[in-house]
Amino acid sequence: MTAAHRPSLADATRGRILFGGDYNPEQWPEETWHEDVRLMRDAGVNSVTLGVFSWSRLEPEPGAREFGWLDTLMDLMHANGVGVVLATPTSAPPPWLGRLHPDTLPRDENGDVEWWGGRQHFSHSSATYRRYAAAITEDLAARYGGHPALTMWHINNEYCTADHGDEAAVAFRRWLRARYGTLDALNTAWGTDFWSQRHDSWESVLPARRTHYLKNPAQVLDFRRFTSDMLLECYLAERDIVARHTPHLPVTTNFMPLFFGQDTWRWAEEEDVVSVDLYPDPRDPQGARHGALVQDLTRSQARGPWMLMEQAAGPVNWRGVNHPKPPGLNRLWSLQAVARGADAVCYFQWRQSRQGAEKFHSGMVGHAGERGRAFQEVKRLGAELAAIGPEVSGSRIRADIVILHDWHAWWAGSQDGRPSTHVDHAAVLHAWHRALCEAHLTADFAHPEHDLGGYRLVVVPQLYAMTDAAIDNLLAHVRGGGALVTGFLTGVADQDDRVRPGGMDARLRELFGIRTLHEWWPLEPGEDVVTDGFRGTLWSEELEAEPDAVEAVYRGGELDGLPAVLRKDRAWYVSTLPEPEALRALLARIAADAGARPVLEGLPPEVEAVRRGELLFLLHHGREPVTVALPGTRHDLLTGKPCTDEITLGRYGVAVLRP
Ligand code: GAL
Repeated sequence: MTAAHRPSLADATRGRILFGGDYNPEQWPEETWHEDVRLMRDAGVNSVTLGVFSWSRLEPEPGAREFGWLDTLMDLMHANGVGVVLATPTSAPPPWLGRLHPDTLPRDENGDVEWWGGRQHFSHSSATYRRYAAAITEDLAARYGGHPALTMWHINNEYCTADHGDEAAVAFRRWLRARYGTLDALNTAWGTDFWSQRHDSWESVLPARRTHYLKNPAQVLDFRRFTSDMLLECYLAERDIVARHTPHLPVTTNFMPLFFGQDTWRWAEEEDVVSVDLYPDPRDPQGARHGALVQDLTRSQARGPWMLMEQAAGPVNWRGVNHPKPPGLNRLWSLQAVARGADAVCYFQWRQSRQGAEKFHSGMVGHAGERGRAFQEVKRLGAELAAIGPEVSGSRIRADIVILHDWHAWWAGSQDGRPSTHVDHAAVLHAWHRALCEAHLTADFAHPEHDLGGYRLVVVPQLYAMTDAAIDNLLAHVRGGGALVTGFLTGVADQDDRVRPGGMDARLRELFGIRTLHEWWPLEPGEDVVTDGFRGTLWSEELEAEPDAVEAVYRGGELDGLPAVLRKDRAWYVSTLPEPEALRALLARIAADAGARPVLEGLPPEVEAVRRGELLFLLHHGREPVTVALPGTRHDLLTGKPCTDEITLGRYGVAVLRP
């Protein structure tokens, strides 16, 4: 089946918003299953994910199959109008697999085994693991492929493991041979002449195992690429099996939010539905911004509607202190996901466990049961999603601005032995995305080599390493009349993490009007630099620029009078991290020059506005009521009432307005 004919999320939603969550009924007696479906109906649940961690129940001993309990559940779901996203159980192998086949267990960088007793204790490179995973997947697909409850496949769960063991070493060499062809080419790419690391045989090439002092950064970079690719191979093997049985049903695997270990641009190309798990800390003042970033990224990877596979109805149990969601926050953050393109709002998990590692993690039905606030709020949300679903589902978001992000640049820029360990790429990305959000500017994300046509403004918070193709792409965007704004530490290295001559790619220096990049001046935590008009943190640079390109200079300190912000025609370079308000003002100005407009002007700061299709979502992240001026009359899909010229939003209030 060609990509154009692959099924999509729309095949599962059928004009609705999917609402539900991970359902792990193995933990409960059968009477509870009947109570579960009663409550699911009550809450408007129309989708559950079954089987994520069911391997030891499905295959209690090697080769055995116990499907009876799952047959009952599939039938029960169908009889109650609940669709099933069926998971392959391969992220938590049964204890017998590790016991009988120790080669299936991964090893960390010290060579220590990761034992069963938790989860995700599988080696992506283990032929034995892959054989067992394929067999159970094949049998699940054969048995349930024709079941009327089945709406989608969910492969594994949050692929995230690495392996440094011997089988992984063999696989790594194979992967490197495919990338480099010859050992000479590998030695060149890895710069092995530094510190006597030249390999004379493929056998001496190792995973990024523990070393006495700093590891070879190009080796570490390739090991990260390899790990992401090996996990992807595991996903593809299972995906191909289920797709062969059910070519009409979409397949997904759930990403973790902005997870370091997986090049999810590459992965998303292989998914019919892009799904993500999202757990912002309810106490984090930037929690909603973090959510917005992950939602924008996921939407961009999906190139349309996406699936919120997991969130928490209340507290998680894996932070130091696990805060509940105050009344209304679960609804607000769920509708935020819908506003930013989700067509599925799901949770981990349906019913809170009484045993096991996650018994203090909330569920849609908490320990307090159906009278508990968690369930009551879930029920209200289910009704609202059902009401707005037909008008929302399938609709798109249009953005004039695009933010570039690349895992390979992140990996390369996060190595040991760099100018400042305080530069956290994810934090820089968040700072820039937050600035756009606070200016009410909607942005997509893209990979630096993606087609940027159609965007007025390209925003590069930081791309430490860039391929020539990515640089050409940026140049073409500016040459074609687009605007570009770039943060520090961009264009420094090539794809092998080799510093480009001059410390930054010459074409980029020319683009921004940088003549010489003398030195980087990273800042200590808490230190700042003053420039014309704002303070910068984290970083500063000693630059020589074309005089006409200087937009703002550093004031005081060692860099007094030297350029801080450069602008040459439509290309901007910002050599520090401006404080939040300054970054917001700068990006708002650049966006306005580029012709990118905010969703609404004059919004109170705690109100987020997103346009999805014809609908305008207003999301109030504050606790005190606010009134938003909105000339004209609109219809609020949530209240069913019209609003004219203004709307008042209460604590965590949301409006979904149709013109
Ligand atoms: C996710 C995972 C779920 C559950 C949840 C708890 O990472 O996929 O199975 O563990 O976290 O927040």
